[in-house]
Amino acid sequence: MHSQLVKYDNEQALDECLQQLQHYPSLVSIKEIKTLKKRVKQATLGGRFIVQGGDCVEMFYDCNENVINNKLQSAVLVKSLFEVLTKKPVTFIGRIAGQYTKPRSSLFQTINGEEMHSYRGDLINSADSCVEKRKPDPKRLLAGAHHAAMTLNYMRTTLASSEQSFSLDLFPWVKELTHELELDAEAIQQNYAQGRKQSLIDQDEFELFTSHEALNLHYEQGFDKEGKDGLKYNCSAHMLWIGARTLTQDNPLVHYLSQIENTIGLKVGPDIDPEDLIKIINTLNPNRDLGKLVLIGRFGVSEYQSRLPKILAALNEADIKICWLSDPMHGNTFTTTQGIKTRCFNTMLSESSGMATLLDQHQNHLGGLHLEFTGCAVTECINGHFVVSEQDLHKNYSSAIDPRLNQQQFVEFILRMAKHIQSFEAFDYCEDQFAQELFTSYRQDIDDIDDHLINLLATRRKLSRAVGELKSALNINIFDPKREKQILVELIEKGQAKGFNQQWLERLFLEIFQDSRAIQSAVPGSLKTVG
Ligand code: PEP
Ligand code: CO
Repeated sequence: MHSQLVKYDNEQALDECLQQLQHYPSLVSIKEIKTLKKRVKQATLGGRFIVQGGDCVEMFYDCNENVINNKLQSAVLVKSLFEVLTKKPVTFIGRIAGQYTKPRSSLFQTINGEEMHSYRGDLINSADSCVEKRKPDPKRLLAGAHHAAMTLNYMRTTLASSEQSFSLDLFPWVKELTHELELDAEAIQQNYAQGRKQSLIDQDEFELFTSHEALNLHYEQGFDKEGKDGLKYNCSAHMLWIGARTLTQDNPLVHYLSQIENTIGLKVGPDIDPEDLIKIINTLNPNRDLGKLVLIGRFGVSEYQSRLPKILAALNEADIKICWLSDPMHGNTFTTTQGIKTRCFNTMLSESSGMATLLDQHQNHLGGLHLEFTGCAVTECINGHFVVSEQDLHKNYSSAIDPRLNQQQFVEFILRMAKHIQSFEAFDYCEDQFAQELFTSYRQDIDDIDDHLINLLATRRKLSRAVGELKSALNINIFDPKREKQILVELIEKGQAKGFNQQWLERLFLEIFQDSRAIQSAVPGSLKTVG
């Protein structure tokens, strides 16, 4: 297999584009990259589950509100359902905002008698079957950055906006699924019925992370930024992964990734030699940072049982603790008799659930899933409760490369995996050192939340003082018992929906109100009656 590096004909045009790319601002922040590393570490230690997913390859054409929204809604839904069922926090990492390249086994192909470059993703060339358009075009590096920025911006604003409520009502079929799977539908419904807008998430609760396959070194290096710590970060995405076809010690991509701080995924297929894998792991993560690497097993349903134990033994021998995700997609692709590339839901589920069981039997655990899905109602993979049959495949097959789970199949997959994982014994913290690390990590999160609370209270105080000044100018009493009572009732209702006790909520907010009144009393000319 070749290294998949891209060669451009016009060096000067490439240089101009690279200069422009290096001049562009970051797409993601170093702080977010560090947060993802914390999350991956928690998953490695058994305290979190990762769902990584999105299209096999994103087309620039997919940079569209509807497509992005459907994907985001699916992600919010599975996070929320998995958390209710397993009580384990979920981190979503999109294959999005940069998943614009594909490795190809052959870099050239012949179409209608003409030899041309194979389509390698919108970041490199056009999918049109035209010799000229198939040539790698460096301007596409810039177009990739623009599309990634728009996609990210739309996701961030959508998540932050109350316009878009992520309500369970949007997915009426989830009820049928929970019934079919005999899941605790009551708990799920209740969880959502409580929020006033029946939103699946609260603002701020959904941490958005992006990832893509590192393939085009020009694009990746264009986003290198130096952190305050003097270390190098790739600010095009929070996480990058190396595909199964490019995972060799001598690939320049491996060398590049060894120099950056981001979390790196390694696609581990049936052909990998465990000793080679250990060498690559040591190259990429000499400091054994638990948030640095994830192994994404994509063995195929008939291979994982014979391959995985050998790798686990080698990792054990080398004393390497690492987070495992299961990618049940790439080892289970087949072509139907009609010549359509597809994957079967049941086969994929067998690989992922089997891998989870096998890891459990080896005193390890599955840290997450890596799935190709779209939020749209495509018919690309067969089976699932809302059956897609081989005859249905032609109805809405729009993937440019690999077949994806549609929204219902994606949610069903996650629900079935949640149920399967629930059946294991409670996570066994047999290794004290790891329990201690997880404990420290959770405590850091609590410290961060406390910082956030202090900042919010300080912002509230500033506003309160401004209101105090206006009250003084307008000759309004500082103490307004009617308003206090009314907002307290509303806060208690919201707080109780989250499981807080009424008296505690009263005590908390009365303290805050009292502080507010004290601040307002200090305003010259204020009316300090009662309070
Ligand atoms: C992919 O994730 O789209 C891919 C090509 O996977 P792999 O490298 O595992 O074949
Ligand atoms: Co794919």
